[in-house]
Amino acid sequence: MTLKNMTLKNVLLAALVAFVPGTASTAFAASLTVGFSQIGSESGWRAAETSVSKSEAQKRDVTLKIADAQQKQENQIKAIRSFVAQGVDAIFLAPVVATGWDAVLGEAKDAKIPVILLDRDIDTANKSLYLTAVTSDSVHEGAVAGEWLAGNVGDKPCSVVELQGTVGASVATNRKKGFDDAIAKHPNIKVIRSQTGDFTRAKGKEVTESFLKAENGGKNICALYAHNDDMAVGAIQAIKEAGLKPGKDILIVSIDAVPDIFKAFMAGEANATVELTPNMAGPALDALIAFKDKGTVPPKWIQTESKLFTPADDPQKVYDSKKGLGY
Ligand code: AHR
Repeated sequence: MTLKNMTLKNVLLAALVAFVPGTASTAFAASLTVGFSQIGSESGWRAAETSVSKSEAQKRDVTLKIADAQQKQENQIKAIRSFVAQGVDAIFLAPVVATGWDAVLGEAKDAKIPVILLDRDIDTANKSLYLTAVTSDSVHEGAVAGEWLAGNVGDKPCSVVELQGTVGASVATNRKKGFDDAIAKHPNIKVIRSQTGDFTRAKGKEVTESFLKAENGGKNICALYAHNDDMAVGAIQAIKEAGLKPGKDILIVSIDAVPDIFKAFMAGEANATVELTPNMAGPALDALIAFKDKGTVPPKWIQTESKLFTPADDPQKVYDSKKGLGY
């Protein structure tokens, strides 16, 4: 907005904001520009997060510039540098891996641009490098999946194969830990094979095929735990092609609650999922606007809910409620 086309009301408001301690001179929420370094589009959940972020920004009249990193940290670092050079009001970062952010986030900090982490954490000793992180408790997600499995197999011996998320991603490390801790209390349940499927359907299928081959065509496997639903959907395909019944011969438990897993529930081919909301941007934008407008410093962690869904939870209804969200 130039001085020439500002109304008297805007001029007075700008003057007022400029004199309120703790507010920046760019403190009109309506004029905020946010750069979002998004990981890519590896999963249905990720596609929904991108789509929901756009609509949440639009609702608040925020300009959102999205840079797709195509799964590469180096592209995310370039995007952050470009956002800093453009002088955006804030940066949202969904970090593909947990380490290696200190230098570039230090550059954003020096430029006084607040950074908000979305859906994944980073490993840093310097928490002042970001304003807040909007994430689920991903250790808890893994624990919910593990407890569901323990509750379902009872005392029966159960050999589990695990499809991990992207190596080095906080959510992959944490979902593994939560699950391992939960089943450690049940010596009859053991993870016999565990490998990354990089959060994609194609890789989930490919790795499951190798698990099945190595485990007597799948006959040794009692359950498959996938760190996201997309890998589980790929696994379901592989299990069917091997002549077994996913959801019955091999129990399927995963994370995200994307519409396709509810379709699999309806077909009797999957057994449980832990929901991760794709709306990380809404709470992040609210925190950012309160910070810019009133100087309100948000808590370091804004935690989103993790809810267990099973085929008993009216999968058709949940599917219908989610299918328009960009998954
Ligand atoms: O960080 C969230 C995870 O990233 C989702 O569970 C997965 O689907 C995605 O790609």
